[in-house]
Amino acid sequence: MCGIVGYAGGQSALDVVVAGLKRLEYRGYDSAGVAVLSDGGLAAAKKAGKLVNLEKELVNRPLAGGSVGIGHTRWATHGGPTDVNAHPHLDNAGRVAVVHNGIIENFAALREELADRGHDLASETDTEVVAHLLAEEFSSAGDLAEAMRLVCRRLDGAFTLVAVHADQPDVVVGARRNSPLVVGVGEGENFLASDVSAFIAHTRSAIELGQDQVVELTRDGVTVTDFDGAPADVRAYHVDWDASAAEKGGYDYFMLKEIAEQPKAVADTLLGRIDGSGRLTLDEVRIPDAVLREADKVVIIACGTAFHAGLIAKYAIEHWTRIPCEVELASEFRYRDPILGQKTLVIAISQSGETMDTLMALRHAREQGAKVLAVCNTNGSTIPRESDAVLYTHAGPEVAVASTKAFLTQLVACYLLALYLGQVRGTKWGDEIHAVVRELARIGDEVERVLETMEPVRALARSLAHKDTVLFLGRHVGYPVALEGALKLKELAYMHAEGFAAGELKHGPIALIEEDLPVVVVVPSPKARSVLHDKIVSNIQEIRARGARTIVIAEEGDEAVVPYADHLIRIPATPTLLQPLVSTVPLQVFACELATARGNEVDQPRNLAKSVTVE
Ligand code: G6P
Repeated sequence: MCGIVGYAGGQSALDVVVAGLKRLEYRGYDSAGVAVLSDGGLAAAKKAGKLVNLEKELVNRPLAGGSVGIGHTRWATHGGPTDVNAHPHLDNAGRVAVVHNGIIENFAALREELADRGHDLASETDTEVVAHLLAEEFSSAGDLAEAMRLVCRRLDGAFTLVAVHADQPDVVVGARRNSPLVVGVGEGENFLASDVSAFIAHTRSAIELGQDQVVELTRDGVTVTDFDGAPADVRAYHVDWDASAAEKGGYDYFMLKEIAEQPKAVADTLLGRIDGSGRLTLDEVRIPDAVLREADKVVIIACGTAFHAGLIAKYAIEHWTRIPCEVELASEFRYRDPILGQKTLVIAISQSGETMDTLMALRHAREQGAKVLAVCNTNGSTIPRESDAVLYTHAGPEVAVASTKAFLTQLVACYLLALYLGQVRGTKWGDEIHAVVRELARIGDEVERVLETMEPVRALARSLAHKDTVLFLGRHVGYPVALEGALKLKELAYMHAEGFAAGELKHGPIALIEEDLPVVVVVPSPKARSVLHDKIVSNIQEIRARGARTIVIAEEGDEAVVPYADHLIRIPATPTLLQPLVSTVPLQVFACELATARGNEVDQPRNLAKSVTVE
């Protein structure tokens, strides 16, 4: 949420910063802005709307060139998406410029204070106060990093700040508390960004910053301190993907590319996790087996699509390990006063590793003595760093706001984790684990097969583009899949979409059914538990009798559903618990195509951001 770039080097800062912002636009696209230092002066430009508006502005009103600069792409919190509220924000003398991600909670008091001292603040943002405070502190400290430390000590809330000052033209200074900021280390140039994709075209060497740290960047060096000025420990790491992974690669949208990458993402997430004797070896799980054996409860916390992965994981964890498992929206978790202790294993699922709701929930869990294991896709991000252990998904960078390949890999990671728990607790025999792992290993090919048969799904989606509502039904693991299908449609097609447990329909939602209402039904495998399957076949009949247009997702060979399906989408047969890995895929394609047919922006849906770093 909000993308930030800083650059100090030998290239045109404007070019580097704008290219970096392009890569970060998924974090917010309400406005964009840049500030560049040159010949003792500071030049800035900012524009409401997408980055393209800023680029046009820069063509009409070119900025003086320089090799030190900062940039920002915004997801609005305080103040609407206007030119005035766009970042960077400057002080009254126009000597300092600052960009910000997060929320400064005590900004109103600071603003009043500044107004009393004669400062004139133009915007409605919380950020602008920082520009003015930095100007004040710089006038006495004479050093931007020191001024930043002094200002940060006065701020409450979550923030990443990056600033430049015309009187220190070689320097970019950044600070972070809770919101993300990483350093890219190049040769004769260095970078700051909300995530590595902004500088991956220039360097794959990165430094992870910790909480409450200030970083000073010049073209030749990087210095990191805490807010008191003491040198800070940092972790350097190598980014294991390159610029091409963060490009569309011939696809019209990132989302289409990411859907297509799912077979590989699933395979990569399994890679290297089974040893020669067939035992699972999850290297990143650093929680001792003795602690995992003792755990008496698992609590999963996550948001959005990751929450749906957690709902599915619950079925596997309880079935394979016999440990009770709760799944909770991270944003609700700590306000409920959850019962946690040293025997609680908390699993925090997050693609970005930066979702503030999930981060706050995991901190709460650790404060209560629980052990936290992160399932995460982003190396160097905050959630794994603050967890006791991490299991990385290897989906590669996910750029489209609507999550696809990250979801499938979260499922794979959760299945592996559940099996691992079963292994250390002795609730599953080695051969049983092996059998599931073998099934998981072939799922990538099955996803590929699903992808090859999606043309009818796309045609169906186009034919429904005029509809207002689509409902989704499922039972067992198909229920969270229905929720995920509905979420995808809301996010992308801006349609009213609801997911229901099929059995719950008769308790209210069935009143929504009317003539020709599209209802997608995710049918469980017919072979595993016939009662479950029979029940959903009855549910399909019930809605069809009331006029619904049934869109049935069912396994190959499931003939019982054929008479009641107005549209039948076939998926390969899989073990019951693993079915979401294939049944979700048509729903992703369906939502993507409907969004396109309705003329919506697939990769950047309105009002959303991919990495939500505010609560
Ligand atoms: C946002 C995104 C969703 C995502 C959720 C959780 O709302 O739009 O696609 O599922 O955040 O993100 P995380 O990075 O924690 O998985």
